[in-house]
Amino acid sequence: MKRFLRVLGSALLVLTLVIVGLVLYINYRSEPTYEVNIPTIKVNATSEAKIRGKKLVLSLCAECHRNPETKELTGRRLMDLPEQFGVAYSKNITRHPVEGIGSWSAGEIAWLIRTGIHPKRKTYVPAWMVKLPHISDSDMNAIIAFLQSDDPLVAPSEVKNIESNASFFAKLLTFVGAFKHFDYPTEAKSHPDTTNTVEYGRYMADNVMNCFACHSSDFATNNDFEPRKSEGYCGGGNMMPDFNGVLVPTSNITPDKTTGIGSWTRQEFVTTLSTGFKKDGSILRYPMGRYAHLSETELGCIYDYLRTIPAISKQVPKPPQPQMSANPTEGEKHYYSYGCVHCHGSTGLGYANLQLADKRYPSDSILTDVILHTYKYFPETSMPKWDGKINPNHLPAIIAHVRELGKKSGK
Ligand code: HEC
Ligand code: HEC
Ligand code: HEC
Repeated sequence: MKRFLRVLGSALLVLTLVIVGLVLYINYRSEPTYEVNIPTIKVNATSEAKIRGKKLVLSLCAECHRNPETKELTGRRLMDLPEQFGVAYSKNITRHPVEGIGSWSAGEIAWLIRTGIHPKRKTYVPAWMVKLPHISDSDMNAIIAFLQSDDPLVAPSEVKNIESNASFFAKLLTFVGAFKHFDYPTEAKSHPDTTNTVEYGRYMADNVMNCFACHSSDFATNNDFEPRKSEGYCGGGNMMPDFNGVLVPTSNITPDKTTGIGSWTRQEFVTTLSTGFKKDGSILRYPMGRYAHLSETELGCIYDYLRTIPAISKQVPKPPQPQMSANPTEGEKHYYSYGCVHCHGSTGLGYANLQLADKRYPSDSILTDVILHTYKYFPETSMPKWDGKINPNHLPAIIAHVRELGKKSGK
């Protein structure tokens, strides 16, 4: 028996050493690198291309790359990344030649966005950076034309990048190949026929806006190569963390009449996505938001396409509300019930940095105007238009709560 225990003991020791060794190896070995063949791309920087590119960058990239305080595309911490993946910062993508991507060629930008492989480091860029393997060459041209344009949004800024710190878990996922890169397309990617609303809607939903990625069952069972083969395609139920750590299930957006959006009219759909308010007056909760930069025509095409996909009968639960403090003030209650907390977090840190608003807008009348007409101050904002949506009697308490968030943070 003793001998058996001794053998078992040494076997466990060996096993432990193997595991420790493997952990150290995965944690400290350099990341896997991939072959990089930068294509030669001649950018056609017409004014239409730059306009289209700006709209795509605002819809697809700004949320992650825009610094919430300065509004520049110089990168930020991704606040809603679950802790188990570590800490991630997006990067400076302004035209600055050293700190930004001003010295990147068009081919390098396209390579990163299409494949997910960093053209300089040759390593995989983590799963939380968007990849667009199926976007058309014409839209890729538009994105690059805009990133290289003289638009103030991409004006060179010397803000330095902050390195991300991936957790062991994230490294393990990369190590075992759970995060996959894409191959660079070998053939031209044509732009869909924009007069065919279903075809164009499919392209915008699947290849550009990646609706299916959040709206299918789970990121782990998504098929990024052929979106429609994702498990539970657009049937919802994928759990997405918000800024308060609350998990928000994505909605069923298939045409099922009772559990999906089968009974929504085209106009209801367009209005909900462009304003960010649902029929019942509640806001679309983060990470869904309003698609302020897509036109009503485009949203209509997406609707037409979503009518054609297989209906899935799946009731998605309502997400829980984040927890208020023990003795909430009237202002805090409104902050939660109107849904400010979903985008701005319970502490004011989220999409924007609300902790700065108290000092930035010392006059109550201006702070009120900023809340009701944010778009006048930040024309490219995705903050909902609150004018007419907030009961004017609630405004003083809401203002007091916003100020309180700034005072509590000491900013
Ligand atoms: C969900 C968040 C997210 C979105 C959306 C996003 N990015 Fe990123 N991006 C990141 C993160 C995080 C990194 C840093 C990755 C790393 O650690 O290397 C990054 C890195 C980059 C880099 C590399 C910069 C460098 O100097 O290494 C470029 C270029 C870039 N993104 C461009 C874009 C463009 C263009 C879009 C829109 C089409 C976009 N990103 C959308 C999160 C995002
Ligand atoms: C980053 C993840 C994400 C992406 C990308 C995304 N959504 Fe959503 N969407 C959500 C979440 C989460 C909800 C649930 C919000 C809530 O409960 O208020 C939602 C809700 C919705 C709703 C409301 C449905 C209802 O029954 O109330 C519609 C419609 C919708 N999304 C359509 C789309 C379309 C169309 C696209 C692509 C253009 C898209 N979404 C892209 C996460 C996402
Ligand atoms: C759907 C997300 C969303 C919701 C809901 C939301 N906001 Fe915002 N808010 C934003 C974004 C994004 C900005 C940053 C403006 C920009 O740069 O686009 C912002 C900016 C602000 C600002 C200006 C901050 C500054 O530093 O200039 C204030 C004040 C503000 N929000 C208050 C509120 C209040 C009060 C509510 C609830 C009634 C609310 N917000 C609901 C997304 C949201």
